[in-house]
Amino acid sequence: MATKILVTGATGAIGKALIKDLQEKNIAFFAGTRNVEESKAKLGLSEELVSFSFDNPATFEAATAGVDKVFLLGPAMVLEMDHLINPFLDFLKSKGILRVVYLSALKSDQMGPDMTFHLKTEAKLANDGFDYTILRASFFAQNFKNYEWENITQRGITLATAGDGKVGFIDVADIAAVASAVLSEEGHSKKTYELTGPEALSYFDAATILSEVTGKTIVYPQPSPEQYVTILKEAGAPDFVASYMNSVYSVIANHHVGFTTNDVEKVTGRKPNTLKSVINSDFSTIK
Ligand SMILES: NC(=O)c1ccc[n+]([C@@H]2O[C@H](COP(=O)([O-])OP(=O)(O)OC[C@H]3O[C@@H](n4cnc5c(N)ncnc54)[C@H](OP(=O)(O)O)[C@@H]3O)[C@@H](O)[C@H]2O)c1
Repeated sequence: MATKILVTGATGAIGKALIKDLQEKNIAFFAGTRNVEESKAKLGLSEELVSFSFDNPATFEAATAGVDKVFLLGPAMVLEMDHLINPFLDFLKSKGILRVVYLSALKSDQMGPDMTFHLKTEAKLANDGFDYTILRASFFAQNFKNYEWENITQRGITLATAGDGKVGFIDVADIAAVASAVLSEEGHSKKTYELTGPEALSYFDAATILSEVTGKTIVYPQPSPEQYVTILKEAGAPDFVASYMNSVYSVIANHHVGFTTNDVEKVTGRKPNTLKSVINSDFSTIK
């Protein structure tokens, strides 16, 4: 059977980059989305788009027709994400579609008791006999554009409770390149990769890069987790968002992710992009 890949999270940051890679390699795929019509213009696709939702099992059959491999990505900001995606994994197993490449997070075992969903999904893939590859990604370089755009462009700050810890921000295009390689080449079965960018940087370093690129002064005010809760509450965010993000940032603040690996280069044969190069392409238009 010729390979056909179902890309879940196809309209998200990594999904879009992965689809580009698969198109360049001429690999057949389905792009799963909860809203096919809306995604047509967003992705410039038509027949590859397929209705797919983890919480709607009625979508599973059509989304996996002719599919032999799955790129599995769960949505952000969902506590107990494992509960959301387990029914789909059970469906895949029942269909004998066992090749799954899962997007996990670097050092999620250090994020606290409410944040065990990635570890639980990794364990399910291993225990249920899947032919898995786990991609434990570091913090995305695109988070600044995707989540901090307003803070950066309107308030001259970037907000995180990362203390003075460092992290190897990674370009989502590099994560996608690894995903595309492990989905299309042999030799990655039952492997776990830790994906980082080329340098460990603090949020102070990131603010300096943002200032250089935008030509404006961007500062990192280093809020405490308690201050962050207050700021997000005042901005009208639901309560769980600040606590979710505080848990995520704690791995930086507690110095668990202040390292780089060469896994991107090992898999793709080229070095990962720098934070500055991503910020340059994301923010250069606002000068
Ligand atoms: N941001 C980081 O620094 C970072 C670092 C490491 C790991 N991660 C992990 O990366 C993942 C998020 O990736 P991302 O930022 O690329 O996502 P994203 O841009 O927020 O996109 C989320 C995707 O999930 C889809 N989605 C949402 N709810 C869904 C549902 N019920 N069923 C099926 N699809 C659904 C959305 O598609 P439609 O709306 O089109 O349906 C969208 O394509 C999370 O698992 C997070 O833990 C993030």
